[in-house]
Amino acid sequence: MKLLFIGDIVGQPGRNAVKILLPKLREQHALDFVIANGENSAGGSGITPKTAGEIFAAGVDVITCGDHLWDQKEVMELLGNEKRFLRPLNYPAGTPGQGSGLFEVRLKNSSLRIAVLNVQGRTFMQPPLDNPFLLAAEEVKRLRERTKIIFVDFHAEATSEKIAFGRFLDGQVGAVVGTHTHVQTADEQILPRGTAYLTDAGFTGPHESVLGREIEPVVKRFLTGMPQRFEVAKERVILNGAVIEIDDASGKALKIQRVAENMI
Ligand SMILES: [Fe+2]
Ligand SMILES: [Fe+2]
Repeated sequence: MKLLFIGDIVGQPGRNAVKILLPKLREQHALDFVIANGENSAGGSGITPKTAGEIFAAGVDVITCGDHLWDQKEVMELLGNEKRFLRPLNYPAGTPGQGSGLFEVRLKNSSLRIAVLNVQGRTFMQPPLDNPFLLAAEEVKRLRERTKIIFVDFHAEATSEKIAFGRFLDGQVGAVVGTHTHVQTADEQILPRGTAYLTDAGFTGPHESVLGREIEPVVKRFLTGMPQRFEVAKERVILNGAVIEIDDASGKALKIQRVAENMI
């Protein structure tokens, strides 16, 4: 099976890019499944039922999240009712929502099951969550009883934590792709035991910006230390992500390719 993972969708320009570019990418890569990180889809901060609805309507099958989870209060509705919406697994027990899910992938003459897992790192990240390594290992073990095809979005800041996490899960999951830094890294590879790995998928939205926000207020904030309003930027919209091919029988990765698709 072939899946596309889309890096953090930022605001309306990001949502629009998914809507316009995804049908083309689906055809071009013969995609069977699409996962996207939606933590910045509502005005750059958080996610709402409306922005999630737009992303699903554009053809995304599962939405993951990250440290911006709580930015919009309407997220509670998604956490309570939407099984296709995942939040980081390692929130304390009792937090609403789910960190993983099992989903049906329809192929030409058959179907198979994929597990998607969302986990958040702890190095230079707020709020501090439970140990992602220990919890992910337990969860992956549980999921592997249901399917061998497992995709992990590791939402984290430090490259060291991300690489260590990918190495830790190597051979246990089909792919570990990082999100959160909004900068696509060029280290896509298949690790020795068969896990596709990319430190960061990048972000989907306006790249004439600082990580998706207007440049000037961010520079001003660094110059003065004073709080500023960071509006979502507009120009040079790019869809960032990765296409990953996973062997249906073994769950091991066959191929990983970065995606950086421009809006024309
Ligand atoms: Fe983000
Ligand atoms: Fe984030």
